[in-house]
Amino acid sequence: MENTTASAPSSRIGGFHKLGVAERIERVAAFAGLDEAERQHLADTGNLSAELADRLIENVVGTLNIPLGIATNMKIDGRDRLIPMATEESSVVAAVCNAARQSYDGGGFVTSMSGACMIAQIQLTGVPDAENARLQILERRADIQALCDECDPILLKIGGGFRDLEVRVLPTRGGVMVITQLIVDTRDAMGANAVNTMAEKIGPRIAEWTGGKTHLHILSNLADRRLARARCVWPLAAIGGEAVRDGILSAYHFADADPYRAATHNKGIMNGISAVVLATGNDTRAVEAGAHAWAARRGHYGSLTHWEATASGDLAGSIELPMAVGLVGGATKLHPTAKLALKVLGVQTAEELARTIAAVGLAQNFSALKALATTGIQRGHMALHAQNIAMMAGALGDEVQQLARVLVDKRLVRLDVAEAELQRLRAAQG
Ligand code: MEV
Repeated sequence: MENTTASAPSSRIGGFHKLGVAERIERVAAFAGLDEAERQHLADTGNLSAELADRLIENVVGTLNIPLGIATNMKIDGRDRLIPMATEESSVVAAVCNAARQSYDGGGFVTSMSGACMIAQIQLTGVPDAENARLQILERRADIQALCDECDPILLKIGGGFRDLEVRVLPTRGGVMVITQLIVDTRDAMGANAVNTMAEKIGPRIAEWTGGKTHLHILSNLADRRLARARCVWPLAAIGGEAVRDGILSAYHFADADPYRAATHNKGIMNGISAVVLATGNDTRAVEAGAHAWAARRGHYGSLTHWEATASGDLAGSIELPMAVGLVGGATKLHPTAKLALKVLGVQTAEELARTIAAVGLAQNFSALKALATTGIQRGHMALHAQNIAMMAGALGDEVQQLARVLVDKRLVRLDVAEAELQRLRAAQG
Protein backbone atom coordinates (compact mmCIF):
# COMPACT_ATOMS: atom_id res chain seq x y z
CA MET A 1 0.00 0.00 0.00
CA GLU A 2 1.32 3.44 -0.92
CA ASN A 3 1.80 5.59 2.15
CA THR A 4 3.10 9.10 1.46
CA THR A 5 3.41 11.66 4.19
CA ALA A 6 4.72 15.21 3.79
CA SER A 7 7.90 14.49 5.76
CA ALA A 8 8.71 11.01 4.50
CA PRO A 9 7.78 10.15 0.93
CA SER A 10 7.30 6.46 0.30
CA SER A 11 9.50 4.28 -1.88
CA ARG A 12 6.51 1.99 -2.46
CA ILE A 13 5.58 3.08 -5.97
CA GLY A 14 3.26 0.47 -7.45
CA GLY A 15 3.66 -0.05 -11.21
CA PHE A 16 6.79 2.12 -11.47
CA HIS A 17 8.13 -0.26 -14.12
CA LYS A 18 5.05 0.29 -16.25
CA LEU A 19 5.55 4.06 -16.46
CA GLY A 20 7.36 5.76 -19.35
CA VAL A 21 10.79 7.31 -18.72
CA ALA A 22 9.37 10.86 -18.50
CA GLU A 23 6.72 9.80 -15.98
CA ARG A 24 9.31 7.98 -13.90
CA ILE A 25 11.47 11.13 -13.82
CA GLU A 26 8.45 13.04 -12.48
CA ARG A 27 7.86 10.48 -9.76
CA VAL A 28 11.53 10.47 -8.73
CA ALA A 29 11.67 14.27 -8.86
CA ALA A 30 8.67 14.47 -6.55
CA PHE A 31 10.25 11.96 -4.17
CA ALA A 32 13.69 13.58 -4.06
CA GLY A 33 12.71 17.22 -4.57
CA LEU A 34 14.55 17.59 -7.90
CA ASP A 35 14.26 21.01 -9.51
CA GLU A 36 13.54 21.65 -13.18
CA ALA A 37 17.22 21.76 -14.18
CA GLU A 38 17.79 18.40 -12.48
CA ARG A 39 14.80 16.87 -14.26
CA GLN A 40 16.14 18.14 -17.56
CA HIS A 41 19.54 16.70 -16.75
CA LEU A 42 18.02 13.26 -16.22
CA ALA A 43 15.94 13.54 -19.38
CA ASP A 44 19.05 14.29 -21.47
CA THR A 45 20.29 10.78 -22.17
CA GLY A 46 23.05 11.90 -24.55
CA ASN A 47 24.06 9.47 -27.26
CA LEU A 48 22.10 6.56 -25.77
CA SER A 49 18.41 7.03 -26.52
CA ALA A 50 15.99 6.84 -23.60
CA GLU A 51 14.07 4.25 -25.58
CA LEU A 52 17.06 1.92 -25.89
CA ALA A 53 18.17 2.52 -22.29
CA ASP A 54 14.65 1.57 -21.22
CA ARG A 55 15.01 -1.74 -23.05
CA LEU A 56 18.42 -2.55 -21.59
CA ILE A 57 17.46 -2.36 -17.91
CA GLU A 58 14.39 -1.81 -15.74
CA ASN A 59 12.97 1.39 -14.26
CA VAL A 60 15.16 3.70 -16.36
CA VAL A 61 15.21 7.42 -15.53
CA GLY A 62 18.40 8.46 -17.31
CA THR A 63 21.89 7.46 -18.35
CA LEU A 64 25.30 7.98 -16.75
CA ASN A 65 28.03 9.19 -19.07
CA ILE A 66 31.53 7.87 -18.39
CA PRO A 67 34.48 9.32 -20.33
CA LEU A 68 35.63 7.19 -23.26
CA GLY A 69 39.35 7.56 -23.91
CA ILE A 70 41.61 6.00 -26.53
CA ALA A 71 44.87 4.33 -25.56
CA THR A 72 47.44 4.76 -28.31
CA ASN A 73 50.73 2.96 -29.13
CA MET A 74 49.42 -0.59 -28.64
CA LYS A 75 50.92 -3.21 -30.91
CA ILE A 76 49.35 -6.61 -30.39
CA ASP A 77 50.44 -9.71 -32.31
CA GLY A 78 52.19 -7.46 -34.80
CA ARG A 79 49.13 -5.28 -35.43
CA ASP A 80 48.64 -1.70 -34.26
CA ARG A 81 45.40 -1.09 -32.40
CA LEU A 82 43.68 1.87 -30.83
CA ILE A 83 42.06 0.85 -27.55
CA PRO A 84 38.76 2.43 -26.41
CA MET A 85 38.57 2.61 -22.62
CA ALA A 86 35.58 3.73 -20.56
CA THR A 87 36.62 4.87 -17.11
CA GLU A 88 36.07 7.68 -14.64
CA GLU A 89 39.58 7.31 -13.17
CA SER A 90 42.35 9.68 -14.21
CA SER A 91 45.73 8.22 -15.29
CA VAL A 92 44.29 4.87 -16.42
CA VAL A 93 44.34 5.65 -20.16
CA ALA A 94 47.70 7.43 -19.91
CA ALA A 95 49.16 4.39 -18.13
CA VAL A 96 48.34 2.11 -21.06
CA CYS A 97 49.67 4.63 -23.60
CA ASN A 98 52.97 4.89 -21.70
CA ALA A 99 53.46 1.16 -21.22
CA ALA A 100 52.63 0.54 -24.88
CA ARG A 101 55.03 3.26 -26.06
CA GLN A 102 57.88 1.69 -24.11
CA SER A 103 57.13 -1.74 -25.59
CA TYR A 104 56.42 -0.68 -29.16
CA ASP A 105 59.96 -0.86 -30.59
CA GLY A 106 60.55 -4.16 -28.80
CA GLY A 107 57.64 -5.69 -30.78
CA GLY A 108 54.68 -5.04 -28.48
CA PHE A 109 52.43 -7.74 -27.05
CA VAL A 110 52.03 -11.40 -28.02
CA THR A 111 48.71 -12.99 -27.07
CA SER A 112 46.93 -16.34 -27.12
CA MET A 113 43.79 -17.99 -25.75
CA SER A 114 43.03 -21.38 -24.23
CA GLY A 115 39.59 -21.71 -25.84
CA ALA A 116 36.08 -20.28 -25.77
CA CYS A 117 34.39 -22.67 -23.35
CA MET A 118 32.05 -21.60 -20.57
CA ILE A 119 31.06 -23.76 -17.62
CA ALA A 120 27.51 -24.22 -16.33
CA GLN A 121 26.88 -25.90 -12.97
CA ILE A 122 23.96 -28.03 -11.84
CA GLN A 123 23.60 -28.62 -8.11
CA LEU A 124 22.19 -32.00 -7.03
CA THR A 125 21.37 -32.88 -3.42
CA GLY A 126 19.58 -35.70 -1.62
CA VAL A 127 21.62 -38.55 -3.05
CA PRO A 128 23.05 -40.77 -0.30
CA ASP A 129 25.13 -42.68 -2.85
CA ALA A 130 26.93 -39.67 -4.31
CA GLU A 131 29.72 -41.61 -6.05
CA ASN A 132 27.15 -43.86 -7.67
CA ALA A 133 25.18 -40.80 -8.82
CA ARG A 134 28.34 -39.25 -10.24
CA LEU A 135 28.91 -42.28 -12.46
CA GLN A 136 25.24 -42.44 -13.42
CA ILE A 137 25.50 -38.88 -14.73
CA LEU A 138 28.79 -39.51 -16.54
CA GLU A 139 27.22 -42.55 -18.24
CA ARG A 140 24.63 -40.19 -19.78
CA ARG A 141 27.22 -38.09 -21.57
CA ALA A 142 25.74 -38.75 -25.03
CA ASP A 143 22.20 -37.86 -23.85
CA ILE A 144 23.49 -34.72 -22.15
CA GLN A 145 25.39 -33.66 -25.25
CA ALA A 146 22.28 -34.14 -27.42
CA LEU A 147 20.06 -32.20 -24.98
CA CYS A 148 22.56 -29.33 -24.78
CA ASP A 149 23.06 -29.08 -28.51
CA GLU A 150 19.28 -29.13 -29.12
CA CYS A 151 19.05 -25.91 -27.09
CA ASP A 152 21.03 -23.83 -29.54
CA PRO A 153 21.13 -25.05 -33.15
CA ILE A 154 22.69 -21.79 -34.34
CA LEU A 155 25.58 -22.14 -31.90
CA LEU A 156 26.05 -25.67 -33.24
CA LYS A 157 25.99 -24.45 -36.83
CA ILE A 158 28.79 -21.95 -36.20
CA GLY A 159 30.99 -24.61 -34.62
CA GLY A 160 30.11 -24.20 -30.93
CA GLY A 161 28.11 -26.38 -28.55
CA PHE A 162 28.69 -29.05 -25.92
CA ARG A 163 32.32 -30.05 -25.45
CA ASP A 164 32.68 -31.89 -22.17
CA LEU A 165 31.10 -33.05 -18.95
CA GLU A 166 32.57 -33.03 -15.44
CA VAL A 167 30.87 -34.37 -12.32
CA ARG A 168 32.26 -33.68 -8.85
CA VAL A 169 31.24 -34.94 -5.41
CA LEU A 170 31.35 -31.90 -3.15
CA PRO A 171 31.30 -32.13 0.66
CA THR A 172 29.51 -29.04 2.03
CA ARG A 173 28.15 -27.75 5.36
CA GLY A 174 24.76 -28.96 4.21
CA GLY A 175 25.88 -32.46 3.28
CA VAL A 176 27.32 -34.03 0.17
CA MET A 177 26.30 -32.57 -3.18
CA VAL A 178 26.93 -33.80 -6.70
CA ILE A 179 27.90 -30.99 -9.05
CA THR A 180 27.59 -31.47 -12.78
CA GLN A 181 29.57 -29.10 -14.98
CA LEU A 182 28.67 -28.63 -18.63
CA ILE A 183 31.56 -27.37 -20.73
CA VAL A 184 30.23 -25.51 -23.73
CA ASP A 185 32.00 -23.67 -26.53
CA THR A 186 30.05 -20.44 -26.92
CA ARG A 187 32.15 -19.01 -29.77
CA ASP A 188 31.65 -15.24 -30.12
CA ALA A 189 29.02 -15.01 -27.39
CA MET A 190 29.90 -14.40 -23.76
CA GLY A 191 27.62 -17.37 -23.40
CA ALA A 192 25.74 -16.85 -20.14
CA ASN A 193 22.31 -17.23 -21.72
CA ALA A 194 23.33 -20.24 -23.81
CA VAL A 195 24.79 -22.24 -20.93
CA ASN A 196 22.13 -21.26 -18.40
CA THR A 197 19.44 -22.51 -20.78
CA MET A 198 21.29 -25.79 -21.22
CA ALA A 199 21.76 -26.24 -17.46
CA GLU A 200 18.05 -25.66 -16.84
CA LYS A 201 17.17 -28.22 -19.46
CA ILE A 202 19.55 -30.90 -18.14
CA GLY A 203 18.74 -30.36 -14.45
CA PRO A 204 15.41 -32.23 -14.30
CA ARG A 205 16.90 -35.16 -16.21
CA ILE A 206 19.74 -35.45 -13.70
CA ALA A 207 17.21 -35.51 -10.88
CA GLU A 208 15.29 -38.25 -12.73
CA TRP A 209 18.39 -40.38 -13.43
CA THR A 210 19.76 -40.20 -9.89
CA GLY A 211 16.64 -39.90 -7.71
CA GLY A 212 18.03 -36.69 -6.16
CA LYS A 213 16.84 -33.09 -6.32
CA THR A 214 18.43 -30.37 -8.43
CA HIS A 215 18.51 -26.75 -7.28
CA LEU A 216 20.84 -24.21 -8.90
CA HIS A 217 21.43 -24.18 -12.66
CA ILE A 218 23.87 -21.39 -13.48
CA LEU A 219 27.13 -20.59 -15.22
CA SER A 220 30.40 -20.25 -13.31
CA ASN A 221 32.22 -16.95 -13.66
CA LEU A 222 35.44 -18.79 -12.94
CA ALA A 223 35.75 -19.26 -16.71
CA ASP A 224 39.04 -21.17 -16.57
CA ARG A 225 38.34 -22.83 -19.93
CA ARG A 226 38.54 -19.40 -21.49
CA LEU A 227 41.92 -18.06 -20.44
CA ALA A 228 43.32 -15.06 -22.27
CA ARG A 229 47.10 -14.69 -22.24
CA ALA A 230 49.44 -11.85 -23.10
CA ARG A 231 53.18 -11.42 -22.79
CA CYS A 232 55.56 -8.63 -23.58
CA VAL A 233 59.28 -7.91 -23.26
CA TRP A 234 60.21 -4.34 -22.36
CA PRO A 235 63.77 -3.58 -23.48
CA LEU A 236 65.92 -2.45 -20.57
CA ALA A 237 66.92 0.74 -22.37
CA ALA A 238 63.26 1.66 -23.01
CA ILE A 239 62.23 1.40 -19.37
CA GLY A 240 65.16 3.28 -17.85
CA GLY A 241 67.66 0.63 -16.80
CA GLU A 242 68.27 -2.08 -14.25
CA ALA A 243 67.13 -0.18 -11.17
CA VAL A 244 63.67 0.34 -12.71
CA ARG A 245 63.48 -3.30 -13.79
CA ASP A 246 64.49 -4.55 -10.36
CA GLY A 247 62.01 -2.20 -8.71
CA ILE A 248 59.20 -3.66 -10.85
CA LEU A 249 60.33 -7.21 -10.05
CA SER A 250 60.41 -6.46 -6.35
CA ALA A 251 56.92 -4.90 -6.53
CA TYR A 252 55.67 -8.06 -8.22
CA HIS A 253 57.28 -10.33 -5.62
CA PHE A 254 55.58 -8.29 -2.90
CA ALA A 255 52.16 -8.62 -4.58
CA ASP A 256 52.48 -12.32 -5.20
CA ALA A 257 53.40 -12.99 -1.57
CA ASP A 258 50.87 -10.71 0.14
CA PRO A 259 47.11 -10.59 -0.44
CA TYR A 260 46.86 -7.02 0.91
CA ARG A 261 49.23 -5.82 -1.79
CA ALA A 262 47.89 -8.28 -4.41
CA ALA A 263 44.38 -6.81 -4.09
CA THR A 264 45.71 -3.36 -5.04
CA HIS A 265 48.07 -4.72 -7.68
CA ASN A 266 45.19 -6.61 -9.33
CA LYS A 267 42.87 -3.64 -8.92
CA GLY A 268 45.30 -1.69 -11.07
CA ILE A 269 45.24 -4.44 -13.70
CA MET A 270 41.44 -4.38 -13.64
CA ASN A 271 41.52 -0.58 -14.12
CA GLY A 272 42.64 -1.35 -17.67
CA ILE A 273 40.69 -4.54 -18.22
CA SER A 274 37.32 -3.30 -16.93
CA ALA A 275 37.64 -0.09 -18.95
CA VAL A 276 37.81 -2.03 -22.22
CA VAL A 277 35.20 -4.55 -21.08
CA LEU A 278 32.83 -1.66 -20.28
CA ALA A 279 33.62 0.27 -23.47
CA THR A 280 32.70 -2.77 -25.55
CA GLY A 281 29.39 -3.35 -23.73
CA ASN A 282 30.59 -6.49 -21.96
CA ASP A 283 29.93 -7.60 -18.39
CA THR A 284 32.57 -6.03 -16.12
CA ARG A 285 31.40 -7.91 -13.02
CA ALA A 286 31.66 -11.30 -14.75
CA VAL A 287 35.24 -10.59 -15.82
CA GLU A 288 36.17 -9.16 -12.42
CA ALA A 289 34.70 -12.13 -10.51
CA GLY A 290 36.55 -14.54 -12.80
CA ALA A 291 39.83 -12.64 -12.45
CA HIS A 292 39.81 -12.55 -8.64
CA ALA A 293 38.72 -16.19 -8.30
CA TRP A 294 41.53 -17.15 -10.68
CA ALA A 295 44.02 -15.08 -8.67
CA ALA A 296 43.14 -17.22 -5.63
CA ARG A 297 43.33 -20.57 -7.42
CA ARG A 298 46.56 -21.67 -5.69
CA GLY A 299 44.93 -21.44 -2.26
CA HIS A 300 46.14 -17.92 -1.58
CA TYR A 301 45.25 -14.70 -3.39
CA GLY A 302 48.17 -13.64 -5.61
CA SER A 303 49.16 -11.60 -8.63
CA LEU A 304 47.38 -11.93 -11.97
CA THR A 305 50.64 -11.06 -13.71
CA HIS A 306 54.10 -12.56 -13.67
CA TRP A 307 57.34 -10.58 -14.05
CA GLU A 308 60.90 -11.78 -14.63
CA ALA A 309 64.19 -10.73 -16.23
CA THR A 310 65.18 -12.27 -19.56
CA ALA A 311 68.62 -13.77 -20.24
CA SER A 312 69.66 -10.47 -21.80
CA GLY A 313 68.39 -8.50 -18.81
CA ASP A 314 65.19 -7.10 -20.34
CA LEU A 315 61.91 -7.12 -18.42
CA ALA A 316 59.39 -9.83 -19.37
CA GLY A 317 55.80 -9.56 -18.19
CA SER A 318 52.92 -11.95 -18.71
CA ILE A 319 49.31 -12.30 -17.72
CA GLU A 320 46.79 -15.15 -17.88
CA LEU A 321 43.22 -14.88 -16.68
CA PRO A 322 39.63 -15.90 -17.49
CA MET A 323 38.16 -13.57 -20.08
CA ALA A 324 34.47 -14.22 -20.75
CA VAL A 325 33.65 -11.51 -23.27
CA GLY A 326 31.60 -11.62 -26.44
CA LEU A 327 30.75 -9.74 -29.58
CA VAL A 328 27.14 -10.84 -29.89
CA GLY A 329 24.24 -10.36 -27.53
CA GLY A 330 23.29 -7.75 -24.98
CA ALA A 331 24.75 -4.26 -24.89
CA THR A 332 27.62 -5.26 -27.20
CA LYS A 333 25.26 -5.42 -30.13
CA LEU A 334 22.77 -2.76 -29.01
CA HIS A 335 24.67 0.08 -27.36
CA PRO A 336 25.74 2.48 -30.14
CA THR A 337 28.94 3.51 -28.33
CA ALA A 338 29.90 -0.10 -27.61
CA LYS A 339 29.39 -0.93 -31.29
CA LEU A 340 31.59 2.00 -32.23
CA ALA A 341 34.24 1.00 -29.72
CA LEU A 342 34.39 -2.45 -31.29
CA LYS A 343 34.77 -0.86 -34.71
CA VAL A 344 37.66 1.29 -33.48
CA LEU A 345 39.29 -1.80 -31.94
CA GLY A 346 38.85 -3.66 -35.20
CA VAL A 347 38.36 -7.09 -33.60
CA GLN A 348 36.50 -9.73 -35.61
CA THR A 349 36.09 -12.39 -32.93
CA ALA A 350 35.49 -12.61 -29.19
CA GLU A 351 38.85 -14.31 -28.92
CA GLU A 352 40.63 -11.33 -30.50
CA LEU A 353 38.81 -9.04 -28.08
CA ALA A 354 39.73 -11.19 -25.06
CA ARG A 355 43.39 -11.33 -26.07
CA THR A 356 43.49 -7.57 -26.59
CA ILE A 357 41.98 -6.99 -23.15
CA ALA A 358 44.60 -9.22 -21.53
CA ALA A 359 47.34 -7.15 -23.21
CA VAL A 360 45.76 -3.97 -21.83
CA GLY A 361 45.76 -5.48 -18.31
CA LEU A 362 49.46 -6.26 -18.58
CA ALA A 363 50.25 -2.78 -19.92
CA GLN A 364 48.33 -1.22 -17.03
CA ASN A 365 50.24 -3.27 -14.48
CA PHE A 366 53.59 -2.33 -16.04
CA SER A 367 52.85 1.38 -15.72
CA ALA A 368 51.51 1.12 -12.18
CA LEU A 369 54.50 -0.90 -10.96
CA LYS A 370 56.97 1.35 -12.76
CA ALA A 371 55.44 4.47 -11.24
CA LEU A 372 55.24 2.91 -7.77
CA ALA A 373 58.82 1.65 -7.95
CA THR A 374 60.21 4.99 -9.13
CA THR A 375 58.46 8.34 -8.66
CA GLY A 376 55.34 7.08 -6.85
CA ILE A 377 51.91 7.40 -8.44
CA GLN A 378 50.87 10.71 -6.97
CA ARG A 379 52.92 12.90 -9.32
CA GLY A 380 51.25 11.60 -12.48
CA HIS A 381 47.92 11.28 -10.75
CA MET A 382 47.84 14.77 -9.31
CA ALA A 383 47.64 16.79 -12.54
CA LEU A 384 44.25 15.35 -13.51
CA HIS A 385 43.10 14.96 -9.94
CA ALA A 386 43.84 18.66 -9.38
CA GLN A 387 41.55 19.49 -12.31
CA ASN A 388 38.78 17.42 -10.72
CA ILE A 389 39.26 19.24 -7.42
CA ALA A 390 39.31 22.59 -9.24
CA MET A 391 35.95 21.78 -10.85
CA MET A 392 34.54 20.62 -7.51
CA ALA A 393 35.57 23.99 -6.07
CA GLY A 394 33.54 25.70 -8.80
CA ALA A 395 36.22 26.61 -11.37
CA LEU A 396 34.84 27.21 -14.86
CA GLY A 397 36.45 27.24 -18.32
CA ASP A 398 40.09 28.39 -18.26
CA GLU A 399 39.96 28.66 -14.48
CA VAL A 400 40.12 24.86 -14.23
CA GLN A 401 43.64 24.63 -15.71
CA GLN A 402 44.84 27.74 -13.91
CA LEU A 403 43.60 26.61 -10.54
CA ALA A 404 44.85 23.04 -11.06
CA ARG A 405 48.35 24.39 -11.77
CA VAL A 406 48.30 26.42 -8.58
CA LEU A 407 47.27 23.36 -6.54
CA VAL A 408 49.97 21.15 -8.08
CA ASP A 409 52.66 23.82 -7.60
CA LYS A 410 51.65 24.21 -3.98
CA ARG A 411 51.53 20.39 -3.60
CA LEU A 412 48.21 20.94 -1.87
CA VAL A 413 45.52 19.29 -3.99
CA ARG A 414 42.66 19.78 -1.52
CA LEU A 415 39.15 21.14 -1.84
CA ASP A 416 39.53 23.74 0.91
CA VAL A 417 42.74 25.04 -0.67
CA ALA A 418 41.09 25.03 -4.12
CA GLU A 419 38.13 27.08 -2.86
CA ALA A 420 40.40 29.66 -1.26
CA GLU A 421 42.70 29.83 -4.30
CA LEU A 422 39.74 30.20 -6.65
CA GLN A 423 38.52 33.21 -4.72
CA ARG A 424 42.02 34.69 -4.85
CA LEU A 425 42.28 34.04 -8.60
CA ARG A 426 38.92 35.67 -9.28
CA ALA A 427 39.77 38.65 -7.06
CA ALA A 428 43.10 39.08 -8.89
CA GLN A 429 41.34 39.01 -12.25
CA GLY A 430 38.83 41.58 -11.07
C1 MEV B 1 45.10 2.81 -8.63
O1 MEV B 1 43.79 2.84 -9.16
C2 MEV B 1 45.82 1.54 -9.04
C3 MEV B 1 47.16 1.30 -8.35
O2 MEV B 1 46.99 1.38 -6.93
C4 MEV B 1 47.62 -0.09 -8.75
C5 MEV B 1 48.81 -0.60 -7.97
O3 MEV B 1 49.01 -0.21 -6.82
O4 MEV B 1 49.49 -1.48 -8.53
C6 MEV B 1 48.19 2.33 -8.73
